[in-house]
Amino acid sequence: MSNAYKVAILEGDAIGPEIMAQAVRVFDAVTRHRDVEFELIRAPFGAAAYFDTGKAFPEETKAICDSADAILKGPVGLSHEESQKIPVDEQPERGAILPLRARFNTYANVRPIYLSADMAHFSPLKKEVIPEGIDIILIRELVGGLYFGEKESGVNEAGKRYVKEVLEYDEDQVRQILKIGFETAQGRKKVLHNIHKSNVLKSSVFWNEILEEVRVDYPDVEVVHLLVDAAATALCLNPGQFDVMVMENMFGDILSDQGGGILGSLGLMPSACIGPDKAYYEPSHGSAPDIAGKNIANPYSMIGSVAMMLETSFNMGAEAKLVWEAMKSVFEAGYTTADLKGTGETQLLSTAEFGDKVMEKLDALLAL
Ligand code: NAD
Ligand code: IPM
Ligand code: MN
Repeated sequence: MSNAYKVAILEGDAIGPEIMAQAVRVFDAVTRHRDVEFELIRAPFGAAAYFDTGKAFPEETKAICDSADAILKGPVGLSHEESQKIPVDEQPERGAILPLRARFNTYANVRPIYLSADMAHFSPLKKEVIPEGIDIILIRELVGGLYFGEKESGVNEAGKRYVKEVLEYDEDQVRQILKIGFETAQGRKKVLHNIHKSNVLKSSVFWNEILEEVRVDYPDVEVVHLLVDAAATALCLNPGQFDVMVMENMFGDILSDQGGGILGSLGLMPSACIGPDKAYYEPSHGSAPDIAGKNIANPYSMIGSVAMMLETSFNMGAEAKLVWEAMKSVFEAGYTTADLKGTGETQLLSTAEFGDKVMEKLDALLAL
């Protein structure tokens, strides 16, 4: 009997539908060549869902996600001005993404920051800074910290308006993400950069205490401590020093977008959000309202998110590799998308044209 998987498809807003249309083609290609079936179940999610149903994460969508084996999510959100048309708690970041993460306890957010040496011209960094390209796995804690802590606001005793957001972690939450960091490092170069702010934050002192306990089980992994502010600079000046980085939620949000910066575009940033029972996959970037509807968005991040799903949720690591290889070969053959720096000889592809070229290559690779 062939494997049959259910995948919930949440297109998202702005460029979401455009890049999702290319990403789902991977499922067709894999089905044509392998004994596997994917049932794709579309469900409303994000700002569009709010305008249609009054909820950014409707009950119907929750049920579809619950019954799916994995979830593929496009970016959600609107421009700052358009967002104001939605009540604060239903704005899709607070009303849909965070509840999705909480629902499936997707505590481990894996964000590859990758450019092959032959794609290094996309980076704003000089060739001599990245002679071998860039190859970093950034691991971000995704369901704790400031994002999920208690929040209050009001008027204080002095009559001043105030706001308070709590950064809270318990030891289990820190331990489980650090284990993912150590395990990932063990499978690569056995060096783990632990990113924190223990010179100021008690939460980082606590994080590092737990790290000392966890590392006992990974004696072969070298730990390098780096303060988060210094890490931001180091990512620009010498990204080659990093292999696996682990950090708390908010630090990871910021440094992973910087990862997109050193690659040359957020369009090159896929991600996996992994929980104990289920994972969902999404680009690291937002819905890019500034370029929506123009067929110029880079679908690499969305297609790469499918590759991560194949490997992590469906044990199809070999097929995932072919997806990466297909995308790389299109760029290495001298094509670009509009977000990426060309070289003068490169040829520009639209969103759909990039999808066409990748699928053609993928089909050939799967047939070998
Ligand atoms: P953004 O990531 O959407 O865009 C930043 C810049 O990167 C823009 O210039 C955009 O055009 C470009 N960009 C991003 N992805 C691209 C792609 N695939 N191809 C080409 N260019 C790309 O960030 P923003 O403008 O700050 O946020 C827009 C909306 O997205 C906001 O509502 C925000 O809250 C939301 N957002 C959602 C997610 C998510 O769904 N996980 C993540 C981040 C931001
Ligand atoms: C990301 C996004 C989200 C985050 C927002 C939109 C909730 O920026 O996935 O990086 O901050 O986690
Ligand atoms: Mn972000």
